[in-house]
Amino acid sequence: MMKQWRLVSLVSLLALLLGGCGKDFQSTLIPQGEVAKMQYDLLLLSTAIMVLVVLVVTAIFIYVVVKFRQKKGQENYIPKQVEGNHKLEIIWTVIPILLLLVLAVPTVTYTFKLADVKPAQKQKLDKDTIVIDVSARLYWWEFAYKNEKIVTSQDMVIPTGKKVYLNLKGADIKHAFWVPSLAGKIDTNPDNVNMMWLKADNPGTYNGFCTELCGPSHALMQFKVKAVSPEEYEAWTASMNKLDGKQETASAQAEEGKEIFQKSCIGCHAVDANDARPAAARIAPNLANFGDRELVAGIVENNEENVKQWLKDPEGMKPGNLMTGKYGNLTDEQVDALTAYLLGLKAEK
Ligand code: CUA
Repeated sequence: MMKQWRLVSLVSLLALLLGGCGKDFQSTLIPQGEVAKMQYDLLLLSTAIMVLVVLVVTAIFIYVVVKFRQKKGQENYIPKQVEGNHKLEIIWTVIPILLLLVLAVPTVTYTFKLADVKPAQKQKLDKDTIVIDVSARLYWWEFAYKNEKIVTSQDMVIPTGKKVYLNLKGADIKHAFWVPSLAGKIDTNPDNVNMMWLKADNPGTYNGFCTELCGPSHALMQFKVKAVSPEEYEAWTASMNKLDGKQETASAQAEEGKEIFQKSCIGCHAVDANDARPAAARIAPNLANFGDRELVAGIVENNEENVKQWLKDPEGMKPGNLMTGKYGNLTDEQVDALTAYLLGLKAEK
């Protein structure tokens, strides 16, 4: 018995401790935008109602068990049998109805608010409406900005304080899109486009995940949402628009890397941020601003060492990825040159 209590207290202590581990860049419980806040409010409201019901029912249960238990000397006593009590029946019908109403009104209101993507459905988009086609692929994410005509991958840049509309699709199989601190998850299916919107209140980098088991590297299919001020967003789109695939290189080594890239990589990867090809033709991540990325392969810090490691052994880093075996073995020198070129591809100079 003592042992069990120790276990119980240990688990509760751990729950308390780990509960403190929530980070504002990836916790549903620390919402960072309007959508996440609405969803969090619903979570709190429904939990409060459920806890209230459990407490009241448990209290009544304990009261009845204690008060009406068989007493000494009454072993064969049968109390008065009561069938039906209008007052009680009305009470226990009306209370749940009231509770359900309290739950239903905000849930339905929020559901309509969250599903309102009308501005993104217009035949001709308003100039300042931000609509991004999100395409989930075997282990990476593509973001195509409709008004801005920009294609990028892995890092989705958005302005703070503005609604961002998303058209979400799975390009190969089913995945699911989730940025815990900004919005609840939504499926990305190959057969239909799902729509949602989200909004970030504060600048920051928020973690995004694939939340549909999709293969050996499902857990590594991550992305980032970078929220920046509206002015920075304007500047970003302007500088992205200048990345036409002919970016200048900074060194002879990077120039050599560019040549290798043009031979071995360009068949799948574009370095032009205005990639006008249809989505189906964009089979690999757009690398126009690769140097700005937070992560390599969606999982490790974007630095020289990790880029080299990725180029040498993509399979070891991200099993089942589609890049493995697409190019021959590169010499160390070629890997160094390619790395210099790739890290020099930046929108923000
Ligand atoms: Cu894509 Cu899991």
